[in-house]
Amino acid sequence: MNHIISADEFSRPDIAELFEATNQLREQSLDAEGRRELAQAYIGYQVCSLFYEPSTRTRLSFEAASAKMGMGIVSTESASEFSSAVKGETIEDTMRVLDEYDFAAIVMRHDQTGAAKRAADVVRTPLINAGDGKGEHPTQALLDLYTIDQYAGRLDGLTVVIGGDLARGRTARSLAKLLAKYDKNRLIFLSEPGFEMGDDIKEVVASSNNDYEETTSLGNALSEADIVYWTRMQKERPMDKSGQVGLQQASSFIIDKTALDIMPEHAIVMHPLPKVDEITADVDSDPRAWYFKQAGNGLYVRMALLKRAVEVKYGT
Ligand code: NCD
Repeated sequence: MNHIISADEFSRPDIAELFEATNQLREQSLDAEGRRELAQAYIGYQVCSLFYEPSTRTRLSFEAASAKMGMGIVSTESASEFSSAVKGETIEDTMRVLDEYDFAAIVMRHDQTGAAKRAADVVRTPLINAGDGKGEHPTQALLDLYTIDQYAGRLDGLTVVIGGDLARGRTARSLAKLLAKYDKNRLIFLSEPGFEMGDDIKEVVASSNNDYEETTSLGNALSEADIVYWTRMQKERPMDKSGQVGLQQASSFIIDKTALDIMPEHAIVMHPLPKVDEITADVDSDPRAWYFKQAGNGLYVRMALLKRAVEVKYGT
């Protein structure tokens, strides 16, 4: 397992190993001595951070993770504007060149679905997909899954409501794939008509030991949830079906205090962020709002992913 293109690449043992490494790295980061040790662990290794699309959490947490482990970072945050893509260079050519620079990993985000696979096909350097169009966002889904495990203490037998723009949201797609690796999970896909979860993902869940349902009823879905995973409308991404571009500017499914009251008391709200108007600000201070803690977990999961990339590439 060299590249990380999709949630498909991770087996349950891989995930268990990754989460164990994540916990170790978190533990080590707690005191000054551990942090100093960590900051020297990977001196001499560099990570390339290549973002063709805007990012806050993914790019900065990968870069923070690199810095905290002593790795150098070579970065371009607006690659669609500042890289040779402007001059017409293909992803493949850009990647072939970056592969020559001996990075421990290339972390790439791109607006085209499938771009991560195209890039990975021409490099030996571990390629980490930081989101490709409407495709996947496996590292976000791994930190989402880690958060679910942290909260619930298990990854089986959970009712997870995944709501919002499921047609264009890549994090929801990758998370559903990861949850489908476990047993007896019930995934409730909640979306407006026209924004349903893709058939490819539904097939993955249907052929696993888990089930899915689709609904447009917010109240029914929330009342049964252990986890509520919310997503924003991906306004910047065109819909596949013509005529639907810009159809939906704002979500009509809002998590507010009333929605929290419908949820079972034990249920938590997650969100990959950024959130726009689909969660009201007064929810932020509720103890069941887990999205900032969830984002914080990204740092340690991504440290573990970079550690793994170094091991894969250099065998150390
Ligand atoms: C997500 C993404 O880029 O897909 N953001 C993230 O990485 N946390 C979600 C989004 O943009 O809606």
